[in-house]
Amino acid sequence: MSKVAFISDIHGNIEALDAVLDDLTIKGVDRIICLGDIASYNADQDRCMERIHESHIDWIAGNHDLMAAGILSPLSCSESAFYSATKSRKSLKPKWRDIIQSLPLMITNDLFCAFHATPENITEYLTREKRLFRTIEIIKTQKLPNIAFFGHTHQSLVTTLQDGRLVKFTEDYITLDAEAISLVNVGTVGEQRGEDKSANYTIFDTGTLEIFNHKVPYNHAISLRKSIDNKFRLDQNSKISVIINKFRQKFLFIRHRFFPRNIDDPSLPGIIKRSSNEVSRSII
Ligand SMILES: [Fe+2]
Repeated sequence: MSKVAFISDIHGNIEALDAVLDDLTIKGVDRIICLGDIASYNADQDRCMERIHESHIDWIAGNHDLMAAGILSPLSCSESAFYSATKSRKSLKPKWRDIIQSLPLMITNDLFCAFHATPENITEYLTREKRLFRTIEIIKTQKLPNIAFFGHTHQSLVTTLQDGRLVKFTEDYITLDAEAISLVNVGTVGEQRGEDKSANYTIFDTGTLEIFNHKVPYNHAISLRKSIDNKFRLDQNSKISVIINKFRQKFLFIRHRFFPRNIDDPSLPGIIKRSSNEVSRSII
C-alpha cells in the first residue's frame, strides 16, 4: 500500500509547482508522477523541468512538451496556445529537447495506467461522452488496468462506468470501485482557466483506492505578470500582437497545406515513429 501523487499541466509555473511540492512534503507521499505539459504558457519552463528532474518525479510527455521539443506541430492549436508553444520551442534549453524525446507516453502497473490526454492521441480532450466511451473500450481491448489517470483538460473530475452509464464526480474525495473502470482527471498545477486560481493535484491511495483532490494557493498574479512580460503569453490587450500572431499561424497553416510534415500527426503511434522513444509504455 502506498500513496501516489499525480500532478499535471504545470505549464512553466514555478510558483504553483513549488507550492504543490511544499504541500506534498508536508502530506508525505511515496511517489510523484507528472502527467505532462511542463512547457509553455508561463515563464519558467526550464526551472520547472529542472525541479521535476532533481526531485526524481516520473514524467510522461504532454503535447506542449512535444511541441517545445519540435516533435509535434503547434499549427492546430488555438491562437493563444500557438503563441505560447512557439515561444516555448524557441526558448527551451537543448538538454530538455533530448530528455523529452525519451519520455514515455503512458505508464502502467497492475493497478493503474497513466497518460497525458487519451491512450491514442496526445491532443484530444477527454471530455465528450463519445471519447470517454472510446477510452473505456481501449482500456478493455488493450487489457489496461481499470483505473486511468490523465490531465490535459485542466479540470479535476472522476468519471466511472456504472451499469453501462458514465457517472461523474467533482467532489474532492472519492473511493474508487476496483471492479469499475474509472477515469481520473487530476486537474492542473499551473494554468487555471476558471475563477479559482489554486494549483490542484491528486493523491491516490493504492491500498484503499481513495482519491483526494487537493487545492493549494500560490501567487498567481506574479506568474501571470512574468508570463506576459517574458512573452510566453499572448497579451490580448495588445491588438498588434494578436493580429501578427493570427497572420503568422494562418501563413504557416497555408504553407503546411502545400508542404505537409509528419509532425502534424498527434496520434501516439505517429509520435513514437518520429521520437527516439522506443519504450512508449513504461511498466512501473
Ligand atoms: Fe496538454
